[in-house]
Amino acid sequence: VGARLTAVLAAGLTMAVLNTATAGADPGGGGHFRPGAAGIGDPYYPTYGNGGYDVADYDLAIRYDPATDALDGHAVIRARATQNLSRFNLDLVGLTVDSVTVDGRRAHWSRSSHELVVTPRRKLHASRPFTVDVRYHGVPTTFTIAGTDLEAGWMHTDDGAVVAGQPEVATAWFPVNDHPLDKASYRIAITVPAGLAAISNGVHLGTTTRDGWSTWRWRQSTPMISYLATATIGRFRISETTHHGKPMIIAMDPDLPPDFADDAVSRTGEVTDFLATKFGPYPFEANGAIVDDYDNLHFALENQTRPIYSRHFFAAGVNPWETYVVAHELAHQWFGDSVAVHHWRDVWLNEGFATYAEWLWGERLGDGTPQQTFDYLYAQPLDAGFWNPPPGDPGVDQLFGSSVYTRGGLTLHALRMTVGDAAFWRIVRAWAATQRGGNGSTAEFIALAERISGRQLDAFFDAWLYQEGKPAYPGGAPPAA
Ligand code: ARG
Ligand code: ZN
Repeated sequence: VGARLTAVLAAGLTMAVLNTATAGADPGGGGHFRPGAAGIGDPYYPTYGNGGYDVADYDLAIRYDPATDALDGHAVIRARATQNLSRFNLDLVGLTVDSVTVDGRRAHWSRSSHELVVTPRRKLHASRPFTVDVRYHGVPTTFTIAGTDLEAGWMHTDDGAVVAGQPEVATAWFPVNDHPLDKASYRIAITVPAGLAAISNGVHLGTTTRDGWSTWRWRQSTPMISYLATATIGRFRISETTHHGKPMIIAMDPDLPPDFADDAVSRTGEVTDFLATKFGPYPFEANGAIVDDYDNLHFALENQTRPIYSRHFFAAGVNPWETYVVAHELAHQWFGDSVAVHHWRDVWLNEGFATYAEWLWGERLGDGTPQQTFDYLYAQPLDAGFWNPPPGDPGVDQLFGSSVYTRGGLTLHALRMTVGDAAFWRIVRAWAATQRGGNGSTAEFIALAERISGRQLDAFFDAWLYQEGKPAYPGGAPPAA
């Protein structure tokens, strides 16, 4: 297990380094027309998302000039009212709104720090579809990753922009119902100076160039959470191939040496196939990767079908350990993207599964078993950094703390030890299959695990997810060191 321990330590160290550089929904119907809520009801983020409607599709056309940082945007949002609506909110930060129409008629609108409040000329009836058209412009905002000082959002680079963040990034570049509970399909057209590329999610419909500007058109059909959308712009070496008939699009910053990240991200198909043997079929219509050389990007993100990787995960020369982050972001395609959190407090389900995928991939690389990884980590003292606070309700400041990742992964392996391999893998595959394309809460995961294993697991999950300190070793005493 020696090599494996080194790998775990190296991975932990990488994460540590990267880390330190770190109202409820409205009932529908009724005769009354009321404003939609200004938040979707997430206790961690009261202003995220909105009440009263559900978006089906975003059709975004943006133009960005890296020389001036100026963005011009046009968003056509097709939604359905979930209550009788007198007005509704979209989330938007910064940027200047130029016009808003609803179903083709000019609407009244106002802004506050995080919200675009739209009052349509005609009231919107519950369960009817409606279309919002917003034109806007400005210099897009940067954010930080929750609980860290890691730069995120619309990150202005030397040759364009890297667009990535969690939980907030979308509000920097389009008006949006910005929460995992409202997934939608996307069409994204990005116009940039000719010679630059603009990479987004899903399938590349084509690129046309006119008058010195190129428009890159993308289509993400399988519903996507807003934070997973990207519009990453710059000079890129782009490899467009297929994998099992699906587009595989890998965009590599040409300022990185040719042997830098290619060895790891070019294994995206292989790693995806490996994870599919564990989790079930890959849930999306395309796949790929984006690596930008932007020095201030210190994280990777599971952007749907197109994870974005910091250059800092890679180094010149072939290094199999660099594929751990690839396994991590690809695991999120199942857990995080396809099966999304219900509220952000459920984030351990994303990061625990992605961490566990690293341990599974490590086993494949011959770097020790998940059981060995578990035992090594279990032996670590309480001040090791990942035990507390427990991961089940980490709070905004610890949303991406070590516990959510490491103790989250330990929780899954402890479940495996408790219910046995057969039940564990049935739980994992059932979770991916039954919640596919939707959301899942911790309570729903526990209920599924109990149903499939036939066991009462409340005390188990309470100890692993909600209690301070080190939970009892599953099934008895840990093996002697
Ligand atoms: N979901 C991202 C991930 O792949 C979170 C990025 C934040 N990273 C961090 N080190 N805080 O883990
Ligand atoms: Zn992750």
